[in-house]
Amino acid sequence: MTQLLKWIGILATMVIVIIVPLYTWTEPTQQEKLLDEYYTDAVLASTELYAINCAVCHGAAGEGIGDTPTLNSDAVRMMSETDLSRVISRGRSNTLMAAWAGEEGGIFSNPQIDDFVTFIQQVNWEFVEVRIQEMGLTPPEVIEMGVSDEMLASLAALPNGDALSSGLLVYAENCAACHGANGAGTIIAPAIDSNDLRAMPQEEIVELVTKGVPGTLMASWGNLLTPDEISSVVDLILRWRELLQADIEFPEVEVMSIPSSPELIAEGERLFNITCKSCHGVDGYGSPMAPAVINQIFLSETPDAAIYQIIAGGVPDTLMPAWGSRLTDRDIQSLVAFMRSMEPSAPVILPPILGD
Ligand code: HEC
Ligand code: HEC
Ligand code: HEC
Repeated sequence: MTQLLKWIGILATMVIVIIVPLYTWTEPTQQEKLLDEYYTDAVLASTELYAINCAVCHGAAGEGIGDTPTLNSDAVRMMSETDLSRVISRGRSNTLMAAWAGEEGGIFSNPQIDDFVTFIQQVNWEFVEVRIQEMGLTPPEVIEMGVSDEMLASLAALPNGDALSSGLLVYAENCAACHGANGAGTIIAPAIDSNDLRAMPQEEIVELVTKGVPGTLMASWGNLLTPDEISSVVDLILRWRELLQADIEFPEVEVMSIPSSPELIAEGERLFNITCKSCHGVDGYGSPMAPAVINQIFLSETPDAAIYQIIAGGVPDTLMPAWGSRLTDRDIQSLVAFMRSMEPSAPVILPPILGD
């Protein structure tokens, strides 16, 4: 009996001595396998989330749309995990890059953010592009809001005309959507072709544009434009009459009534689900990132043309992008038609009461 116990003891020791090292010796390959699976899962999960939430700015193949940076580059792949995780979690202040982590007011859990980091480091972007196409989520082509070469040439011919043409470029890109291409104002913003403004000292207008008008759509542009850009656009505002006298033709902004048809509404609904839902929430009822837009209160107070302008021009200094450079006129009309068609059934959603 004691003999047997002794043998069992020896056997057990041998098992420990032989098997355990064998096991630990195979351990790394097992771990690698697990890691591989983790990478694949992270990449697959993130591809869907990328398609819905990020492609609209960073492009279906990570190529970057408009001014949004490309993610498909060695420079980005080689960023440290900490840096990548930080920019996705917290966003970059004063840019369109939002904070996406739940704890920063975004919509993703920390494991999902980790997956995005792995995704950006590992993914084959051709795969993402094809997948996004299959999902029907390829972002629409960029349409630049244009100032013609002829306009720039005739401006440049005026005294100190170079300043005017740079001012006009800033204006076309950042201000025209609200203040109108001809400076005459729109339903949501006052005219900047105005004697009252021209009577103001230049520094005051610079200050106004730099700081914005709190509580209105007029953002503080000091965060988004350089002092030179601001001073050139203010110069343009002060000299607006000269432009008219010099017979420079401004593209007319139409006061539009948005057409509506079942097809247009259907197009708008599809586009809304692709480009707007990620922030404005399912059914447009709002999310932590953006207010409700399919909302009785907003829709009854806001005419079509104003909704159009908000979508085209964005709301500077907030997450609301200017879609005018990415969507066509028809796209935006379809969005307005869709939103308007939802008005009868839209709930009354009060804006959240924010603590201070
Ligand atoms: C509304 C447009 C928009 C959306 C949507 C968006 N981004 Fe960005 N993203 C930007 C902009 C603009 C920047 C550059 C910010 C700056 O100037 O530093 C940026 C920067 C980044 C960077 C840093 C790149 C670099 O070169 O430093 C990463 C990584 C990134 N975004 C990932 C994402 C991910 C992941 C998503 C989706 C969860 C996403 N972004 C959604 C606009 C967007
Ligand atoms: C999203 C719409 C929007 C955009 C874009 C916008 N503004 Fe404004 N702006 C407004 C509104 C609304 C007001 C009126 C604010 C108020 O109620 O005092 C305003 C006021 C102004 C005023 C004062 C007008 C006055 O008579 O007092 C100036 C000057 C001005 N904006 C210049 C600019 C410039 C320059 C840009 C581009 C860099 C710009 N705005 C972009 C909406 C906008
Ligand atoms: C990256 C996030 C984001 C995306 C994507 C986005 N929005 Fe917004 N949107 C916002 C935020 C944030 C606001 C609130 C801005 C403010 O504080 O005034 C807003 C405001 C609006 C408003 C004005 C609502 C109000 O109550 O004044 C409309 C209309 C609107 N968005 C329509 C759209 C449409 C249509 C799309 C898709 C083409 C879209 N948005 C996509 C973030 C977003």
